[in-house]
Amino acid sequence: MVVGDDESSHEVEQDPNPVAQPASDASLAAADAAVSVEGDGEIQSLARRIQEALSVGKRHRFWETQPVGQFKDAGRGGLPEGPIEPPTALSAVRPEPYNLPALYEWTTCDMDDEQICAEVYNLLTNNYVEDDENMFRFNYSKEFLQWALRPPGYFKAWHIGVRVKATKKLVAFITGVPGRIRVREDIIRMAEVNFLCVHKKLRSKRLAPVMIKEVTRRVHLENIWQAAYTAGVILPTPVTTCRYWHRSLNPKKLIDVGFSRLGARMTMSRTIRLYKLPEATATPGFRKMELRDVPAVTRLLREHLSLFVVAPDFDENDVEHWVLPLENVVDSYVVESPETHEVTDFCSFYTLPSSILNNQNYSVLKAAYSFYNVAAKTPLLHLMNDALIVAKQKDYDVFNALDVMHNDTFLKELKFGPGDGQLHYYLYNYRLRNALKPAELGLVLL
Ligand SMILES: CC(C)(COP(=O)(O)OP(=O)(O)OC[C@H]1O[C@@H](n2cnc3c(N)ncnc32)[C@H](O)[C@@H]1OP(=O)(O)O)[C@@H](O)C(=O)NCCC(=O)NCCS
Repeated sequence: MVVGDDESSHEVEQDPNPVAQPASDASLAAADAAVSVEGDGEIQSLARRIQEALSVGKRHRFWETQPVGQFKDAGRGGLPEGPIEPPTALSAVRPEPYNLPALYEWTTCDMDDEQICAEVYNLLTNNYVEDDENMFRFNYSKEFLQWALRPPGYFKAWHIGVRVKATKKLVAFITGVPGRIRVREDIIRMAEVNFLCVHKKLRSKRLAPVMIKEVTRRVHLENIWQAAYTAGVILPTPVTTCRYWHRSLNPKKLIDVGFSRLGARMTMSRTIRLYKLPEATATPGFRKMELRDVPAVTRLLREHLSLFVVAPDFDENDVEHWVLPLENVVDSYVVESPETHEVTDFCSFYTLPSSILNNQNYSVLKAAYSFYNVAAKTPLLHLMNDALIVAKQKDYDVFNALDVMHNDTFLKELKFGPGDGQLHYYLYNYRLRNALKPAELGLVLL
């Protein structure tokens, strides 16, 4: 999107000159639904509201049959919070896979197998999420996929592919991984469903509903009855709708590739100056997280996540998997008090590059995504400024963050600009009384 005039006012205050604004950020970040609306903030928000109203009126042949919040029930008080359907006996779960069209067959993708991992990588690299203007496409690395799909207690059977029978070519994919997610007081075993992808040549053939039903069936076979997922499209019915914000680290490249545009009356050199960061981090004791920090980080994270209505319930095993640094996948830093050696704060981001489509000079946009951050002693603003500094040192082009948790307290101050896409969060077979505000959500899905 183009930063609305209203939204850029803060930045204008900081600098007497109009500033470079993330423009049609083609927010891959914002997953699938980037809408680049030129023009004034009001028109833009009106356009968005109209679009949303139209989506809500739309029929959903598949989703209307599923245990999810339905649009027709919106605003109907009295529907209880909690599971929409009770679990069935495991013996009542369909034992055989759903039927695919005759030319295709199911396959389980063994992510330990480098060759299969490469097939999945290639399918996603060529067919996964693009922005609305088809300028960028997510390029999850193989290492990232192996990390995202093999957390503690994962099920191989939940990494589901579809192949062409005749050629064995992999043409579709969907995954689940298990997690414990707390909704208010209740901790619920859920599947986190992700990486739904159908090859471009097989779109609009209603393959996605079969894939969603098949992953649901395999999740049920593990006696798990709820799921969490995100999408850039509006489906029945989001539990919350978030926005991605983008902090330019390499503004020249972002402008050159069309991710951002130069602000009105702004020169490239002023823009570069505006986004310049110090060479070194500022918080005393700020250092890379190590294995020995897992217990302290777990305590910090658990305490922090207890503040939100919906959040993961992480134990030490989860923290070791999800936040211990892994080269080019996840980066985490702690603040260790120079006096007491106590770990007082923590921040993390994951690495998700995007392919830049059709650009002569650049092929990859290196993006960091804010993951979980806990500012218990250091102000969050300082902690995140240090995160930006290390991301810049590591040559990321942009640092992205959703407006979840307490993020909105640093976004404008640290010169993030709002993106044009939205990310909707969903729960399967679980109803919340009301939609949440993004700041009430403590969950980041990959
Ligand atoms: C998302 C994708 C798999 C959908 O496949 P498709 O061929 O476009 O759509 P199909 O004809 O198979 O199925 C359409 C149904 O799937 C639903 N659907 C589409 N995208 C969906 C999503 N991201 N999550 C859940 N359901 C989705 C549609 O709403 C529709 O159901 P409805 O009639 O109840 O509304 C495909 O477009 C794709 O691979 N896109 C690029 C990657 C991507 O965006 N993945 C999703 C990331 S969240």
